[in-house]
Amino acid sequence: MIKKAIIPAAGYGTRSLPITKVLPKEMFPIKGKPSIHYIVEEAVESGIEEILIIVSKYKNLIVDYFDVSLELEAFLESRNKAYLLDKLVLPKVHIQYTRQPYARGLGDAILLGRSFAGNDPFAVLLPDDIIINQGANATKQLIDLYNTVESPVIALKYMKDELLHKYGVVDITSQEGQVHHLKSIIEKPKHSPPSNLAVVGRYIMTPDIFDCITVKSGEFGEEIQLTDAICKLMANRACYGYEIEGDRFDIGIEEEYLQLIRYIHGLENPI
Ligand code: G1P
Repeated sequence: MIKKAIIPAAGYGTRSLPITKVLPKEMFPIKGKPSIHYIVEEAVESGIEEILIIVSKYKNLIVDYFDVSLELEAFLESRNKAYLLDKLVLPKVHIQYTRQPYARGLGDAILLGRSFAGNDPFAVLLPDDIIINQGANATKQLIDLYNTVESPVIALKYMKDELLHKYGVVDITSQEGQVHHLKSIIEKPKHSPPSNLAVVGRYIMTPDIFDCITVKSGEFGEEIQLTDAICKLMANRACYGYEIEGDRFDIGIEEEYLQLIRYIHGLENPI
């Protein structure tokens, strides 16, 4: 059973500057709620009971948002606006926070969740990726596969050639419908991507991933990629990719963020 989830939300949001100097992109509004609210809701709907959000010192708004605001509640009650209290209802889940002191990559952020995960498998939800599906949500789709294979599972989507350099791209050994048996992953391949199957921001990880997370010298100094760790893990055990159903919107891309807002407001068909 997957009951825990880690949401890494410590990045600088460089693609969305200058607003992200002061407003974390996880707080970008979508129909009056911050985008991370949808991520937490997805986790809760898929059966998650405990969430660890990895923040940085610039992300206090996230912590404030998921806190109760007693003054505001009292104010609404005193002004006969109790009907607005519904708007303050938060997803029913226990959330805790850890700060990532240095922006050293996704692997580093996940490593901070080691004691939170303990010996349990856990979900990872990247808050840039909002995935909307009429049926089971993306995390639930991965959990359903995990419950059968009891091995790490990664969400995949087919992408056009020209987009692959922005993603982790998998190489597979075999495929059965939407399920792919993974051979390796290359993070943001500059040339010759091994397939058109890109990693999108949902993962089910097992605790043995933590021993595979190591520092390496990257283009911009020390970095710790989750992709490299998953690749290492594949040497020891089977890992699966699942072509998820649903429409994915990257809120770090202005056009997709706008599409998402129109979609949630019922103004646009899925892309
Ligand atoms: C991260 C992962 C990458 C994955 C992507 C999905 O990259 O490192 O493997 O394909 O998320 O959104 P980022 O977008 O954080 O650079």
